[in-house]
Amino acid sequence: MSLQGPDTADWYRRASAVLINGVSSQFRYWGPDDTLVIERGEGAYVYDMDGKRYIDYQLGFGPVILGHGHEPVVRAVREAAGAGVSFAMTQRREVEAAEVIRGVLTWADGMRFTNTGTEATMHSLRLARGYTGRDLVVKFEGGYHGMHDYLLFSTAGVAPDSLGSRFRPIPVQSSSGIPEAIRSYIRPVPYNDLAAAERAFRDEGHRIAAVIVEPTLSNAFGLMPVPGFLEGLRRLCDENGALLVFDEVKTGFRISLGGAQELFGVTPDIATYAKALGNGFPVAAVATKGEVTEGWAKGGIAQAGTYSGNSVGVAAARATVEELKTGEPLARVEKVGTSLMEGIDGILKDQGVEGTTTGHPAMFSVFLGKGDPRDFRDAAGHDSHLYDDTCFKMIAKGVMPCPDALEPWFVSAAHDEEDVATTLQVFEESLAETLAGK
Ligand SMILES: Cc1ncc(COP(=O)(O)O)c(C=O)c1O
Repeated sequence: MSLQGPDTADWYRRASAVLINGVSSQFRYWGPDDTLVIERGEGAYVYDMDGKRYIDYQLGFGPVILGHGHEPVVRAVREAAGAGVSFAMTQRREVEAAEVIRGVLTWADGMRFTNTGTEATMHSLRLARGYTGRDLVVKFEGGYHGMHDYLLFSTAGVAPDSLGSRFRPIPVQSSSGIPEAIRSYIRPVPYNDLAAAERAFRDEGHRIAAVIVEPTLSNAFGLMPVPGFLEGLRRLCDENGALLVFDEVKTGFRISLGGAQELFGVTPDIATYAKALGNGFPVAAVATKGEVTEGWAKGGIAQAGTYSGNSVGVAAARATVEELKTGEPLARVEKVGTSLMEGIDGILKDQGVEGTTTGHPAMFSVFLGKGDPRDFRDAAGHDSHLYDDTCFKMIAKGVMPCPDALEPWFVSAAHDEEDVATTLQVFEESLAETLAGK
């Protein structure tokens, strides 16, 4: 069975004639018969080239927090684009957006815009290294920080059994083409394993520039931090003169207005934001606290970008954050997400399937396996066949989570109770069909 209707299949043929595999990002390729081509999005829905509607839980891999085509954001972008987009100077809209964002990120002393999460984490690493004069970086297994070489190790794309002992984790490259030398700068640690992070610092604390962490492991089942984990990382960094970098690309402006920093009450030295910051428009930011801010203020640590602070991105960010500040959109997201999580947990129990929902209601996953996973290594026990088969059946029926179980279901303020009811019904039917071998 193919997910493509006749018109979508035609468009996919056209796409593959001009784009490699018909996509501009490898995560969008689902094979020649199932890769979709989308005509438009509206609120909680996307429509393919056959006009088929899907309830969208991918939301462009997370950014679309207010819903597709959200009018106040579109209006702000339209107005900004008409007045010119890129200037070789700071522009009014950039200042206004930064003021609104800094009003939310009250912990920060400095900020600069970038365009993507990849750029933001790359710059945050250079800043941390330039400030500390050290090279090593601790990252967590299953964490993803974008496509640059520096952190593309031990992500959720590698086999959990390739990661070596929990006591001596092996940095596993997630791609060919990364210079071998880069590997020597990475110290991977299992998420939620403070003892392992302590071990890394005991061995080489004076060489570690930064600990970079997705505060909830949003690229591996959206796992939540156990109590004391983030606080422990903060303490380790303080004791050893390293910087704590929160990669809030997925969590920022989503799990709470102020992101994980606000929700968990732990303050990083540097944090990166993107995705929900701009409701789908390309805009990102790096925020800094304390003396490290001087690293950029005084020069000597390079940071630049032709499109950074462009008027379209910052106009989208300002309109998005202004609306999120009312509190209503994130309250709706949390309510809908909670109903989905409770409903899915109930269905798993009714059908006798071992598993649980994991993560935060604004971006949760469905883990089909024993127990409560704490880290990416626990993913080895996940029944990916059961999940994939169920998920493809759901997509065929018009409900679209990401077919990769590790990637969360994202909820927007445009999803409503009717979408929840349809989704749960479709999940129940699809799971039952998969279990029956249909
Ligand atoms: C936590 C995290 N950091 C960074 C990135 C990279 O962001 P971008 O795709 O905008 O470069 C992602 C992308 O999914 C992410 O999830």
